[in-house]
Amino acid sequence: MNYEEKIIEYPPVHPGTDRTFIRFYEGEPNPKAMLLGGCDEMPQRVFVTDTTVSSLPCMDEFTAEFGTGKGAAANSVHKRRSGKDILVILGAGEPFKTIESVLSIVAAALDANGQRSTVFVGIGGGVITDMTAFAASIFKRGARCELVPTTLLSMVDAAVGGKTGCDFGSYKNMIGSFFPAQKIHICPEFIKTLPQSEYRSGLAEVVKTALLFSAPLFDKLESNPGILDGRGKSEFAPLISEMIRTCVSEKASVVEQDLTEKGMRMLLNLGHTFGHALETCAGLGKVAHGDGVAWGMARAADLSERLGLCTKEYAERVKRMLRSYTWETSEIHPAMEGKGSAGDIARTIFGAMKKDKKNSSSKVRFVLQRGVCDTVITEADEGDVLAVLGAER
Ligand SMILES: NC(=O)c1ccc[n+]([C@@H]2O[C@H](COP(=O)([O-])OP(=O)(O)OC[C@H]3O[C@@H](n4cnc5c(N)ncnc54)[C@H](O)[C@@H]3O)[C@@H](O)[C@H]2O)c1
Repeated sequence: MNYEEKIIEYPPVHPGTDRTFIRFYEGEPNPKAMLLGGCDEMPQRVFVTDTTVSSLPCMDEFTAEFGTGKGAAANSVHKRRSGKDILVILGAGEPFKTIESVLSIVAAALDANGQRSTVFVGIGGGVITDMTAFAASIFKRGARCELVPTTLLSMVDAAVGGKTGCDFGSYKNMIGSFFPAQKIHICPEFIKTLPQSEYRSGLAEVVKTALLFSAPLFDKLESNPGILDGRGKSEFAPLISEMIRTCVSEKASVVEQDLTEKGMRMLLNLGHTFGHALETCAGLGKVAHGDGVAWGMARAADLSERLGLCTKEYAERVKRMLRSYTWETSEIHPAMEGKGSAGDIARTIFGAMKKDKKNSSSKVRFVLQRGVCDTVITEADEGDVLAVLGAER
């Protein structure tokens, strides 16, 4: 059949989203100085945070500007004493990453007479930064967005790269958009108040980035496992700051080349195919995301070795490093024990991988490695995957 085709082209719809300024701050976080300074001519801001972050001591002066403070209720909206800015406080954590939370940000902005020039500023972990950026992207067809990541994971991963969204029922991140922030304010010292489990979760993404893109960072992490319990120690401060900067710039360079995940951005899924499947099969909340990713990196190392991509020494090096950070590397994760025979468990996890949204065909694709900074994306036979999941035990 013949056909004629006409192409119509547009300038970028959101001129402000074609570049991101990333600011690194030193010292104690001071959100008031960071965000509320400046001239009276500032555009209106819709600040969004959660109940936990709004109660951090470093937020006191900031929240006081809005006539609120510790113990503010979830889903409360506060108007700044001077000017037109508002502060929306949502519930904390993944259960609140809902379309209702996103709509409550939109509703608060509408009530405050927000415009397309309004800047939505998310202050929090990945849940808050993902939802704030999503709300900005749909508000009046696209307002502006700035992010202040306060967890290690959101600094090194979630806030960088323009993926926004929320969960839908039990489906994670199923609603969303690509909408890069105009500015990201990174203050490493926010991580000092994080619960250890959240810090550890972020560290898994740091290790992933080092394996993918930075041999020097991997070497340093390998020789400094004390960083796991060393957040408060001044000896680790330079390494923590360096690891955050390295991860941010490596992720930034990936998304600069592939914002919408058509190619090299997929590399960032190292450990995630196995990890997500484990999280799903173990039952909601049983395995922390970072722990799943770390275990997934160990499984990816074993699969790489099995397929002849890397040496046994390399796979052992990766697993030894992960174990030194107390992550599980065995074929069958303890969270799956009691869920059937080794073969049953392996098949359950493999089944979950096949359902993952990132697998377009029935074959499962894996991010595997020949060595540090030498990564390939490839499919693998079911038998090989089952073997590294312990089916042959
Ligand atoms: N957009 C992306 O590219 C991307 C990438 C990775 C992850 N994510 C998303 O990020 C989310 C996970 O992010 P997260 O791990 O930051 O979880 P989170 O946002 O739920 O934060 C974890 C907990 O730590 C609290 N918290 C935040 N900062 C704190 C601080 N400085 N001190 C003490 N407590 C603090 C939060 O209130 C929350 O209870 C997931 O929803 C995931 O889908 C997005």
